[in-house]
Amino acid sequence: MKQDVIAIDGPAAAGKSTVASRIAEKLGAHYVNTGNMYRAVTYSALRTGLKSPFDRKKIKEMLENIDINYVTGTDGKLILTMDGKPAGTEIRAPEISRHVSEIAAMPEVRDWLVNRQRQFVSLGTIVMEGRDIGTVIFPDAKYKFFLTASPEVRAKRRLEQSGETADGATIASVAKEIAARDEMDSKRDMAPLRKADDAVLVDCSEMTADEVVDRIYAIVNKSMLQSRKQSINVS
Ligand code: DC
Repeated sequence: MKQDVIAIDGPAAAGKSTVASRIAEKLGAHYVNTGNMYRAVTYSALRTGLKSPFDRKKIKEMLENIDINYVTGTDGKLILTMDGKPAGTEIRAPEISRHVSEIAAMPEVRDWLVNRQRQFVSLGTIVMEGRDIGTVIFPDAKYKFFLTASPEVRAKRRLEQSGETADGATIASVAKEIAARDEMDSKRDMAPLRKADDAVLVDCSEMTADEVVDRIYAIVNKSMLQSRKQSINVS
């Protein structure tokens, strides 16, 4: 049985969050950003006083004492919480981006988050973005997309997102940081960043966010309408 999931994977700053949240809105589905869950773990590690290179045993101990999860807000949308409080822009700060790939490569951290991420499917249709959604978290997702864009385009977009890059950052410095993160995310042993064989590749380098949303929505909506028609014919 296929899972009621729209999986959106891809490298850093490819535009996944903008696209995934808008698709979720159009479909009336729940939106989950798994990158923010890894960021929340990284934030908690640094706040606890742990430093890079992180000690796996200490990270494991920390995970026993923290709570990171999504809860349903008053408007019905999912909100990421750390120890019961909504996570804010602090998890998107450059310091977190610098360390998150190291934390995300740890099997202890992935195991801890994987279980939480799989549970969202019980809420109904979900749009989930990350690096391993179509390959590991929901390999049987009904829809899988892999978003990518050229390194220059991604660096430019990331620079335009205020608060996410260090003061004085340039396209070249941001491109270097993104490339380093992609390399770590793609080369790790566990659940590396990879396009699922059955994912639709969308190169967003020359497309606006609206165009990407329209393309993905058209594919998902057409297929949803077709399966509704089929189930009406059967019953
Ligand atoms: O999507 P993002 O750039 O905010 O993600 C931050 C980091 O989290 C990314 O560099 C790799 C990690 N990540 C992951 O390993 N698996 C996921 N499903 C999502 C993110």
